[in-house]
Amino acid sequence: MFVSKWFSFILLIFCGALTGAEKDGIKTISVMKGDSVTLPTGVSEINRYMQILWLFGPENPDTLVAEIYKTSISIYDSYKGLDRLQMDQQTGSLTIRNITTTHSGLYTAQIMTAMATYKRFKVIVYAPVTLPVIESSECQISVLQKCAAACFGFSCEVCTLKCSTENGPGVSLSWYIGSERLNQTSSSELNVNLSLPLEIKERNIDMYQCVAANPVSNQTTQFSFQEHCPPYTDSSHFCGFTEAVIRLVISALVGVAAVAMLVYDFRS
Ligand SMILES: *[C@@H]1O[C@H](CO)[C@@H](O)[C@H](O)[C@H]1NC(C)=O
Ligand SMILES: *[C@@H]1O[C@H](CO)[C@@H](O)[C@H](O)[C@H]1NC(C)=O
Ligand SMILES: *[C@@H]1O[C@H](CO)[C@@H](O)[C@H](O)[C@H]1NC(C)=O
Repeated sequence: MFVSKWFSFILLIFCGALTGAEKDGIKTISVMKGDSVTLPTGVSEINRYMQILWLFGPENPDTLVAEIYKTSISIYDSYKGLDRLQMDQQTGSLTIRNITTTHSGLYTAQIMTAMATYKRFKVIVYAPVTLPVIESSECQISVLQKCAAACFGFSCEVCTLKCSTENGPGVSLSWYIGSERLNQTSSSELNVNLSLPLEIKERNIDMYQCVAANPVSNQTTQFSFQEHCPPYTDSSHFCGFTEAVIRLVISALVGVAAVAMLVYDFRS
């Protein structure tokens, strides 16, 4: 008796929790701007006694935008861009064509038969990410290293790369080498471009990739040493300059020596 009482109590809590979860069950749908999305009611065939209401709101689904009752469909102008809305005659599912960011928000289908059931959706509309841009901000190298690298074939360069892309909701920017992610960044400051630096110490590794991604799209820019971190074309100039200085100093020394010898000869 005691046990069964406890059992029903636990059962009650369990069932309560289950219906609660179902009530708050919101399905999140990520969609690309310009695409179409269909929100299903789960109804296979509407009968003439069934009424389905679609409600929408950016924060709360509090505005009636479409309904089907006695098999007749009404679409209301409370929905911005109502010409994009379409309701399926057989299932009551709602399709939004050429979706824009103003259609992001909460959608609820209220399906009324003898009792009401609900289907809830959170629709998030994303713009496609832009192609990331790689810049080699500084190929840092001292004049000495530059000359040494050019003259003796040393590879002592450190190249700092900067990758950037337009920011937006859900956008992240990453550096990859092959399939391994080296670093990643994202920011809630949507009006500031995202950027991520990377230091490269070795030449001839054209395996770095910068990837901009959001839940609906991604774009990759492959790093190329030739294109983004060109070798120093002016290093020969630097070497030539040093050589010239050395020659000048040597000829000056020779000159001084010659003059000194002349003076010495003259005196003796
Ligand atoms: C989609 O909507 C945009 C405005 O948001 C409009 O400029 C464009 O022409 C539409 N495209 C189609 C295929 O209807
Ligand atoms: C990743 O980028 C941040 C910001 O530029 C930097 O502070 C951090 O050191 C980087 N991490 C790695 C592992 O390179
Ligand atoms: C980029 O998008 C494609 C599909 O378009 C997907 O297969 C791939 O996994 C995505 N890559 C990343 C790094 O998100």
